[in-house]
Amino acid sequence: MNERTVVLIKPDGMEKKVVGQIIDRFERAGLNLIALKMVCLTQEILDVWYAHHKDKPFFSELCAAMMSCPVVAMVLEGEGAIQKVFAICGPTDPSEAQPGTIRRDFGESKPKNVVHRSDSVGAAQKEINLLFQPEELS
Ligand code: CMP
Repeated sequence: MNERTVVLIKPDGMEKKVVGQIIDRFERAGLNLIALKMVCLTQEILDVWYAHHKDKPFFSELCAAMMSCPVVAMVLEGEGAIQKVFAICGPTDPSEAQPGTIRRDFGESKPKNVVHRSDSVGAAQKEINLLFQPEELS
């Protein structure tokens, strides 16, 4: 199924200057980049974005980190894009990720795991609506 998914390059990924390498991995996998920009996340956006984490002990630390600098936000499209991006990024904890995944190669810890990726088609749609105008999607 042709799907869309959202990837954010988190502040720790921005600091490490691996934006180009990350986009390269998605393009090499045949995914199409249909929107790309830098955004300053706000508490209002994050309250919706991470609504499912609101009661977790790390929620305020997570939000503070995500607002610490502008992040790169992109929409990728392709056959099975959600699962493809999931595989390219690896699981939440970089220490559990396979070598060759973004999180294993560039991540340090759960809070510093370099990228966010949509969990499902529904999450991707919610995230696209939160960050992008329809005319920004090619
Ligand atoms: P992600 O799965 O993209 O979205 C939720 C984020 O919360 C997750 O990446 C981690 O960066 C962060 N996170 C998850 N678990 C923990 C934890 N135990 N401590 C701190 N941050 C966490």
